[in-house]
Amino acid sequence: MKLDGRSALITGAARGIGRGFAMAYAAEGATVAVADIDRAAAEATATEIGHGAYAVEIDVSDQRSIDAAVTTVVDRAGKLDILVNNAALFDASETVDITRATYDRLYAVNVAGTLFTMQAAARQMIAQGHGGKIINMASQAGRRGEPLVLVYCSTKAAVISMTQSAGLDLIRHGINVNAIAPGVVDGEHWVHVDATFARLEGKRPGQKKAEVEAGVPAGRFAVPSDLAPMAVFLASADSDYVVSQCFNVDGGQWMS
Ligand SMILES: NC(=O)c1ccc[n+]([C@@H]2O[C@H](COP(=O)([O-])OP(=O)(O)OC[C@H]3O[C@@H](n4cnc5c(N)ncnc54)[C@H](O)[C@@H]3O)[C@@H](O)[C@H]2O)c1
Repeated sequence: MKLDGRSALITGAARGIGRGFAMAYAAEGATVAVADIDRAAAEATATEIGHGAYAVEIDVSDQRSIDAAVTTVVDRAGKLDILVNNAALFDASETVDITRATYDRLYAVNVAGTLFTMQAAARQMIAQGHGGKIINMASQAGRRGEPLVLVYCSTKAAVISMTQSAGLDLIRHGINVNAIAPGVVDGEHWVHVDATFARLEGKRPGQKKAEVEAGVPAGRFAVPSDLAPMAVFLASADSDYVVSQCFNVDGGQWMS
């Protein structure tokens, strides 16, 4: 097992991609903190995964909550070896309709949440003295703009940039920081995205999703298990020489 004896913290792990990563990490032998702002859903996911998984409440937009979650992980598992910065929010609107409130909300979770959870984990890993692994969830949305998705796309571009800078800084402590850029992954996130585009573009429910799926070279949306092997690789010793990279796992949607 690639993660035997490791202690992992995954934010936004109650559902979707984070839940899939939590299952994969537990299967590889890790102790996994299923961390989410939705405590009840995190409890349900941790119970479903069973051995090795436990729920932690975290709001990544709140520094005290971040610090408390890291403390809980160290109390529970004795250490923190792996962080997956996965929690994020999506929104879309025409450029002229973007509000300060939406901008602040998305930047607080997707950018500041990623940065300061990464910082809290890195401080703990440096204190432990044996390195660590940090995986940030970017997106194909961070590779290029979209007409109605300015704020979300820019937050994911920031995640890619922060991964590069933090990775270059933290590798001297033996901490590998890398990112994954998914394309389109089926789940509740896309229910929200499809409903948002139905409202903005006058589409039928399901229409945006079908149009997007038709453009995926691999011919289908991803499911979380399509991404999990990359998340396991980046959390394992196999990636010790991989620094500051962002890997597209997107069925061929973007090349870089
Ligand atoms: N689904 C996709 O198509 C897709 C594509 C590219 C990138 N991504 C990225 O992958 C990651 C996971 O996506 P997903 O589809 O599983 O999303 P999701 O919306 O299904 O799940 C996100 C989880 O984060 C939690 N969360 C929200 N705000 C939080 C906060 N402040 N603190 C802690 N937890 C919070 C939610 O409760 C939820 O459980 C995100 O970073 C997303 O931007 C997703």
